[in-house]
Amino acid sequence: MSDNQLNNVTIALTKGRPLTQALELLSKIGIEPVEDMAVSRKLVFETNRSGLSLMVLRSVDVATYVEHGIADMGMAGRDVLLEQGEQGYYQPLDLKIGACDLMVAALADEGPLPARIKVASKFVNIAKRYYAEKGVQVDVIKLYGAMELAPVTGLAHRIVDIVETGNTLKANGLVAIEHIAKVTSRLIVNKTSLKMKHVVIQGLIDDLAREVNGE
Ligand code: PRP
Repeated sequence: MSDNQLNNVTIALTKGRPLTQALELLSKIGIEPVEDMAVSRKLVFETNRSGLSLMVLRSVDVATYVEHGIADMGMAGRDVLLEQGEQGYYQPLDLKIGACDLMVAALADEGPLPARIKVASKFVNIAKRYYAEKGVQVDVIKLYGAMELAPVTGLAHRIVDIVETGNTLKANGLVAIEHIAKVTSRLIVNKTSLKMKHVVIQGLIDDLAREVNGE
């Protein structure tokens, strides 16, 4: 790595709903993108801090970019990190934003169930682990979105999904019945980057920790 590269730090953010809160948090520690990320179609943004860039990725890709060192740091939901196995990076800080819950949900008027139920989710590893720990055998069906439709249409008996306000479940006649895990956004850091760019990255971790924990 050249001296110039050593001064450059890239933070990968999750696009969509979590982006607003992530940008608010960065703003509180003095980091602002130089253009409006909400309206631009660009994927990498310079900030007011020289050498510090922001990258906007799909939630499932944030850890991959951090693990491979393309992004030095990332902000990603614990749901996605749990699903992917939480390996290959440091996870120094709970950012306490993007709070929601991983839940099992069912039709509010659920009838009798077969001995072996079908569970639809995009979090197939979390779902399999959850039922395995309970000692219950289920068939897990992988979906990529609109999980709520699965019990309504008969594709699956239950779903494992994140619940924030509960509005989506309610609008589709579902209720949350079992709690699997609390979810917030986490700061993740590439292992080599933390060594090679220690001063800058540790400074950012400390600034974020002070802000998040009100120290
Ligand atoms: C998530 C989740 C639910 C919804 C829950 O989807 O899959 O559908 O949010 O939020 P609520 O409890 O506030 O209604 P998201 O909107 O993130 O889109 P996705 O299906 O692309 O994950």
